[in-house]
Amino acid sequence: MLRLGVNIDHVATLRQARYRGFDRGEPCPVDAVRQAEDAGAHGITAHLREDRRHILDRDIWAIRDTVQTRLNFEMANTPEMIDIATRLKPEAVCLVPENRAEVTTEGGLDVVGQVDAITEGAATLGQAGVEVSLFIDPDAQQIEATARTGSPFIELHTGAYAEAYGDEARQAAELERLARAAEQAKSLGLSVNAGHGLNYENTRGIFLVPHLNELNIGHSIVSRAITVGLGQAVREMLELMEGYKAG
Ligand code: PXP
Repeated sequence: MLRLGVNIDHVATLRQARYRGFDRGEPCPVDAVRQAEDAGAHGITAHLREDRRHILDRDIWAIRDTVQTRLNFEMANTPEMIDIATRLKPEAVCLVPENRAEVTTEGGLDVVGQVDAITEGAATLGQAGVEVSLFIDPDAQQIEATARTGSPFIELHTGAYAEAYGDEARQAAELERLARAAEQAKSLGLSVNAGHGLNYENTRGIFLVPHLNELNIGHSIVSRAITVGLGQAVREMLELMEGYKAG
């Protein structure tokens, strides 16, 4: 079964658009956790960014207290975040690159260029009982480097595939890259998740990628929630994901 992790960052983005600097505000990420889980989400993902642009420290602790399924904590590999993660004890951490100027996480981690730092971060998290995943582009060298860090999971960055929407040849080429990357990761003993830019139109295309365990989807589910409600938006995505064969 292909699992769905619902990324609730943009619930907080909407709140911060009106309530930055306040200790209250709507919409409430904790309510979103409850609704997503009630609708069948297999996990909740939230990213505490260094600049605290959406999820705040108080949110991540309240989310931790609320999540009944699994909490996947997205974070940069920095001493501050490692310290928070080892106290927060999410079920999983996904290490992502962070660049203050980007609107959202734009590219995968450069694991090749920082194997030692990532190995150290992954070891600290692993010792705290956290399952570690690295968010990487579907690139053979990055996958090979990920295996060397001792991280059990990768999350394949599907952004290039999503951006190719409407250009069939480019989209097919990106799917082929993702499929090759998933095969390589599996052969190296890594488990495979995927995410970024997936929506109600392009998620089924991902069925061509083998060995997937979980999709992490945020923006499109939170956007659809504005018109149909979060529970319905999650159920519709789960329905789209039915029938996936891991291969
Ligand atoms: N996975 C990772 C590692 C991400 O950084 C993001 C974006 O925050 C997502 C998945 C979800 O992307 P989207 O909001 O485009 O669905």
